[in-house]
Amino acid sequence: MTALSGKRILLVIGGGIAAYKSLDLIRRLRERGASVRCILTQGAQHFITPMAASALSGQRTHTDLFDREDEADIGHIKLARDADLVVVAPATANLMAKMAGGHADELASTVLLATTLPILIAPAMNVRMWLHPATRRNLTTLQEDGVHVVGPNEGAMAEAEVGPGRMAEPLEIAAAVERLLAPSGPLAGKHVIVTSGPTHEPIDPVRYIANRSSGRQGHAIAKAASEAGARVTLISGPVDLPDPRGVTTVHVESAREMLEAVERALPADIGIFAAAVADWRVADAGGQKIKKKEGTLPNLSLAENPDILATVSHLPQNRPALMVGFAAETENVIEHARQKLAKKGCDLIVANDVSPATGVMGGESNTVHLVTRSGIETWPTLSKTEVAERLVAHVGALIGGTEP
Ligand code: C5P
Repeated sequence: MTALSGKRILLVIGGGIAAYKSLDLIRRLRERGASVRCILTQGAQHFITPMAASALSGQRTHTDLFDREDEADIGHIKLARDADLVVVAPATANLMAKMAGGHADELASTVLLATTLPILIAPAMNVRMWLHPATRRNLTTLQEDGVHVVGPNEGAMAEAEVGPGRMAEPLEIAAAVERLLAPSGPLAGKHVIVTSGPTHEPIDPVRYIANRSSGRQGHAIAKAASEAGARVTLISGPVDLPDPRGVTTVHVESAREMLEAVERALPADIGIFAAAVADWRVADAGGQKIKKKEGTLPNLSLAENPDILATVSHLPQNRPALMVGFAAETENVIEHARQKLAKKGCDLIVANDVSPATGVMGGESNTVHLVTRSGIETWPTLSKTEVAERLVAHVGALIGGTEP
């Protein structure tokens, strides 16, 4: 038995120079036991031939939506169903745009619209195309639609430019396929939602209320959960950190957006809510910048934000089996954490002292206490990565039913 034994992959090859690497990807996937069937777009056929894809996959390669033989034989709807995973590699800017917009004007985009299978894309394009706001928007839309993404990598590009846009290497794509189809590790098969970072609450279109959270702890948890085999959705407020690899990251600004994104990401097995969500927002944040007026100060009235942790922990349906909250306190850390556990209805509170002397906010390390209904466990001072790894192991043991 190999990792992908018996798994069927539909590989959509887009029209970019990275298409030549997709031929190697076919081999890598087959080495792992998967069967691979290919669709080549018109563009892809400028770089590689259907014959090469068929020779390497050992199966007929599909290119045309209106091919009479293909439609009589398998048909595009059957193509969209007869697999365990659709991989799009290279996913060009154009293919991503079509997917995000729901276009269906040739075989590849039609199959991608018709499929209900999980989809993994490996974007590849010029760095400026990758960084263009249109591609950013399309990527966000695709991630919100549940599409998984691997890469792109940074490095030299075909046009002698350097930057993000190189397709992930075939081995990296094969590893991402394994994570999706044959996850291993203590959280294999689990969906984990992590919230991270601060929220920004607008005062007007240019000003906002924020806090000092860096998102480091939450992002480290998302990465550790993914490495433990979980499918992870990270809902992140504005942070200065890269999206963790292998994790579906949804970017939000305000607490209300964060709650909406969490609700869209449900159902999940585990929720780990590490975001420093603003408790209040400005009640009537206007569409225009507040003007400075001589002798008067603006009066900001505040409204309470939804408590995301409490809301999700109290859901009558769809509540993750294990809900973990954080408590950043500057005094009476344990006592406040106990109260929070009861008030928010979660199963575990990770409490830490964030008084300025500790340097936790924005810093690299953390001293935490795990507070549950049955007791308290205090960990030594660890790096945020170590806290994340230990927390994920602890959560894995709790959900797996064995004592950590
Ligand atoms: O009440 P406090 O902000 O200290 O609670 C912290 C915990 O509650 C964290 O897990 C945080 O992510 C979560 N929280 C939330 N929504 C809020 C406020 C806090 O999810 N509006």
